[in-house]
Amino acid sequence: MVISRRRFISRSQHMLFSGAVAAHAPFVLPGFKSRPAPSDQINVALIGCNNRGFHVLQQHLKVEGVNCVAMCDIDRNVLEKRSSELQEKSLPKPTLYEDFRDLLEQKDIDAVIVGTPDHWHCLPMIYACEMGKDVYVEKPLANSIEECNLMVKATRKYNRIVQVGQQQRSSEVWQGVMDFLKKGDLGTVQKVDIWGNFNYGLGPVKQPDGEAPEGVNYDLFLGPAPARPFNGARFHGTWRFFWDYGGGLMTDWGVHLLDMALWARDLKRPPDKVVAQGYQYDLSDRSRETHDVMTALFSYGNYLIQWEHNAGKQVGPYDRNYGVAFIGENGTLVADRGKWEVFPEWDGAKKENKMEKMGPVKGQHGHEKHPANFLECIKSRNEPACTIEEGRAVAVAAHMANIALRSGALNLEWDESKNRFSNSKMANKFVVPDYRKPWSLPKL
Ligand SMILES: NC(=O)c1ccc[n+]([C@@H]2O[C@H](COP(=O)([O-])OP(=O)(O)OC[C@H]3O[C@@H](n4cnc5c(N)ncnc54)[C@H](O)[C@@H]3O)[C@@H](O)[C@H]2O)c1
Repeated sequence: MVISRRRFISRSQHMLFSGAVAAHAPFVLPGFKSRPAPSDQINVALIGCNNRGFHVLQQHLKVEGVNCVAMCDIDRNVLEKRSSELQEKSLPKPTLYEDFRDLLEQKDIDAVIVGTPDHWHCLPMIYACEMGKDVYVEKPLANSIEECNLMVKATRKYNRIVQVGQQQRSSEVWQGVMDFLKKGDLGTVQKVDIWGNFNYGLGPVKQPDGEAPEGVNYDLFLGPAPARPFNGARFHGTWRFFWDYGGGLMTDWGVHLLDMALWARDLKRPPDKVVAQGYQYDLSDRSRETHDVMTALFSYGNYLIQWEHNAGKQVGPYDRNYGVAFIGENGTLVADRGKWEVFPEWDGAKKENKMEKMGPVKGQHGHEKHPANFLECIKSRNEPACTIEEGRAVAVAAHMANIALRSGALNLEWDESKNRFSNSKMANKFVVPDYRKPWSLPKL
C-alpha cells in the first residue's frame, strides 16, 4: 500500500482547514471500494484548482446530482478563492485540503479530478485508483513514459473508470472528422500534418529566484521534482516550459492534436520511430527550457505524422494557427476545434476534382461533453471517450519527440514490448523519472 497509516498520521499536521481528520473512518485496505457504486448522486473532488482543474470541475457541476465535496491545492490563496466562488453560486463549501493524500482518505468521494501540473498527475491518480475512486486526469497523461505505463497498470489493476482530459475525443467537430474519414472518400491517408503556433509558447518573462508566496507549500508543489529555489516563472501556468514539470508546446498541444491522427487509425500505441529537430530563439528576457521551434516525425509503418510548432507565432497553414491536415489520395481534410473542411485533389486526366469540396462544417467542442461522458461511465462502468491506453499512447509519443532532442539522439526507435528505445542508451535514461525522496514510483 502506498499510503501507510504512519505516513498518514505524520501528514495530518499539514492539513489545512479540513477539520475532517477526526471524522475519517479507519484506514482502508488496498483496492477497497470506499463507497458503493454511485447511483443518483456523484461526489467529486478536485486536486489542483487554479485554472483547468476548476474549469473541468465546473463542467462536472452542470450535471444534475454531481456534488463537489472536497478540493485540494498547495496554494491556500487559490484554494480559498475557488471555494468562495462555489459558495457564491450557493453550492455547499467543500472540505479543503493542502495534501491530496489527506483528501483521498475522505470516504464519500466517488471521483477525483486531477488538475495539477503534469509532474503531479501520476501519484494522485494512482493513489486515487488504489482508494477505489474513479479519476478524470488532465492531459498529457504524465510527465514521463514510465509514469504513463504505471497509470495504465493502476487503472486496470484497480478496475477504475479513468477519463484522460483529451476532450477533443468528445467533440462534435472531431467526431465528424472521424466519421468522414471512415467513409473512405478521401482515399488512403498515409500522411497527417499537424501544427501548433502559439504566442504563449515563448514562456514567461525571466524572474529572479525568491521566497514562495505566503500560503504556498512549495515543497509539495515540487513533490517528486528536483529541489530548487522558488521562482515565479516556474510556478502557476508557466511551469509547462520547464522539463521538471512539463514538456512545452510538444506535450501541451501535441497530445490534443496528435491524438486525432491516432484516433483516425484507432492506434493505441506509441510510434515505431520518431525523428525530431528543435531550437530556442535567442531571447535573453525569457525563461524556459522547452523548444520554441520544433518539428517531429512520428512513424507508424506506412502512416506518417508530422508535427511542428512555432512559439511566439499565431498564424499557420490554411489560415489557422493550429490544425490537423489529413492528406488523402483524393483530397486533404483540414480541421481545428471549431470546424473541418475538405480541399479536393485535381485529376489531370479527367480535368476535374477527384472529390467534392466540402465545408467548413462547424460543431461543438468537447469541453462540456467530455466530463459528462466521464460521469455517465462512472454509472455504466463503460469505457470513457478517452481511455487510459489512448492517453498513454499519445503522451508517450510526445515525450519521445522531446526525448529525441533532450538526449541528442534525434532519431529514435521504440520497442513497445520492452518499453524502451532500441537504439539509444542516452534516450533510455529519460524513460523512468528520478523521483525526489521521499516520493517514489508505485510498484504495481
Ligand atoms: N484539456 C485541456 O484543454 C487543458 C487546458 C489547460 C490545461 N490542461 C492541463 O491541466 C493541468 C493543469 O494546468 P493549468 O493550466 O490549470 O495549471 P495551473 O498552474 O494554472 O494550475 C495548477 C494548480 O495545481 C496546483 N498544484 C500543484 N501541485 C499540487 C499538488 N501537489 N496538489 C494539489 N495542487 C497542486 C497549483 O497550485 C495550481 O493551483 C495540466 O496538466 C495541463 O496540461 C489541460
